[in-house]
Amino acid sequence: MKSFDPANLSIPELHGYLVGAIGPRPVAFASTIDAQGRPNLSPFSFFNVFGANPPLLIFSPARRGRDNTTKHSYHNVKAVPEVVINVVTYSMVHQTSLASTEYPEGVNEFAKAGFTPIASEKVKPFRVKESPVQFECVVKHLIETGSGGGAGNLVLCEVVMIHVHDDVLDANGKIDQRKIDLVGRMGGHFYARAHGDALFELAQPTTQLGVGVDSLPPEARNSTVLTGSDLGKLGAALTIPDETAVNEYRLTELSDTFIAHKDQPGNLLTVLHQHAHGLLAQGKVEEAWMTLLAFNAR
Ligand SMILES: Cc1cc2nc3c(=O)[nH]c(=O)nc-3n(C[C@H](O)[C@H](O)[C@H](O)COP(=O)(O)O)c2cc1C
Repeated sequence: MKSFDPANLSIPELHGYLVGAIGPRPVAFASTIDAQGRPNLSPFSFFNVFGANPPLLIFSPARRGRDNTTKHSYHNVKAVPEVVINVVTYSMVHQTSLASTEYPEGVNEFAKAGFTPIASEKVKPFRVKESPVQFECVVKHLIETGSGGGAGNLVLCEVVMIHVHDDVLDANGKIDQRKIDLVGRMGGHFYARAHGDALFELAQPTTQLGVGVDSLPPEARNSTVLTGSDLGKLGAALTIPDETAVNEYRLTELSDTFIAHKDQPGNLLTVLHQHAHGLLAQGKVEEAWMTLLAFNAR
């Protein structure tokens, strides 16, 4: 493992490690206007949601690393503190990238990138018609995190209107994660597309307390067969099977395994861990626990 003190890295090196490791980053396609009312449209992946009450989005049109200049989007939100943040989907990504071209001041990237401007309801900047979700925002705070090249300019904005296209909603009116097809920015020239096999669901632990990985017997925690995901699934169990259940399971489900490996405890352990790994792949967490505990119940 290599370790770096940021103070010893150049700004491009530092930028590379930051954006290479922190991703995929959502993309704010920020629509602003200048003091003369001219539209601007630029993507920013230093972006996220930071609260729902009030609904707060933050993005950062940063100072350029190469010449320490600042971006039109930042000038615009200082002059007219309103922005529409449009989400970026896979079908929009080539045009979105084109809109990031550093056109001179006053050039309309809606026209350059071929997007359709539509009027907002509560703010002056336009929405991007092709984006399935558009957030009309009022800028609440601007925070300049430094004065050198590469420094962030945080634009903290409150959402005052949300527009969601019917195409991305499910039957309950919620945004369907399989339909929205969002993209994220990664390091270098990489993007990620959130669709198909890239999507998976994981129930979130709420008020119920999982027993924790530290409740597993040491040989299971240190297993070379069980993966980190296996340990996470086992640790999320709400109860540990009791001795009676484990003995019963050993006699009914595992007796052949125990007989076959009765003189080779090392092999038995590996086989039990492989069995537990297979059970976990099928979502059988309790059976996996009993398999692991059976080793010491001999
Ligand atoms: C997907 C994507 C994400 C980007 N994210 C950022 C960002 O977070 N911050 C930034 O300063 N520039 C970012 N850029 C570059 C800006 O979009 C680019 O500098 C743009 O020309 C700024 O336009 P403006 O001067 O009209 O505001 C990104 C570019 C792309 C394609």
